[in-house]
Amino acid sequence: MIATSAEQLEQIFAECQILEKDGFGPKVLESKDGLVIYKLFRRKRWFSSALLRPYAIRFVANAKKLEMLGFCTISIREISCCKRPAYHLVAYDKLPGISLRDYLDGLGDKAEAVKDESRAQVFASFGEMIARLHNNGVYFRSLHLGNLLWRECGDFPLIDIADMRFYQRSLTPAQRLRNFHPLLKRTIDHYLVDAASWELMIKSYLEFAAINSQQALRLGPKLTGLAAGLESRKF
Ligand SMILES: Nc1ncnc2c1ncn2[C@@H]1O[C@H](COP(=O)(O)OP(=O)(O)OP(=O)(O)O)[C@@H](O)[C@H]1O
Ligand SMILES: [Mg+2]
Repeated sequence: MIATSAEQLEQIFAECQILEKDGFGPKVLESKDGLVIYKLFRRKRWFSSALLRPYAIRFVANAKKLEMLGFCTISIREISCCKRPAYHLVAYDKLPGISLRDYLDGLGDKAEAVKDESRAQVFASFGEMIARLHNNGVYFRSLHLGNLLWRECGDFPLIDIADMRFYQRSLTPAQRLRNFHPLLKRTIDHYLVDAASWELMIKSYLEFAAINSQQALRLGPKLTGLAAGLESRKF
């Protein structure tokens, strides 16, 4: 890990475009040439679990594990650390593609038939992708539409990967069910995931999930139930 300073961080702020920020300042930046993404991990509290296992270290380790399991994700270029102020900075390659959320949002302007077909394609392959994660023992705590990219080839590169747990076995049905919760946590996503798309995603998920038919029979209605009232939650 490379040591860095507050001055070097200021320089990156000055030279890059800010993609995301929070109350503490910029947190995701893109280099001017569009090739590199910088993600800043600040330690906000004096004592936190991040002190023992910084999120930046988890982020880098998770990228390696995902790659070993055959998932598409970011390629780390560099990780650096500053003591004062306390932060880590991870530099990684910018991947082609837009977030799944932005892609679905963009469909809003298209004709109904195109929209329906594209949605069906997205949600069917998304269900398969989630099943693949779960079959491989990956619990992606931040599983939501903004944390994966959409690409025509359907490989859904995972980009926001600090918060994950890897098991030696595939996930249990209870873990599988729980991991769908974050997908509907944000109200903005209720505009983008309608009940029919959700159903398509679940159908495809169950087709690819490595669970027996009894488990699938019990899990299916519970997964469908998570989206109950989705239509009415739309504004
Ligand atoms: N490797 C990448 N390739 C392309 N775009 C990326 C990449 N990494 C991040 N982005 C863009 O930056 C946005 C924010 O990234 P990310 O989800 O990692 O940050 P965040 O959600 O703000 O962070 P956090 O959830 O940790 O608070 C993404 O939605 C995407 O548009
Ligand atoms: Mg994110």
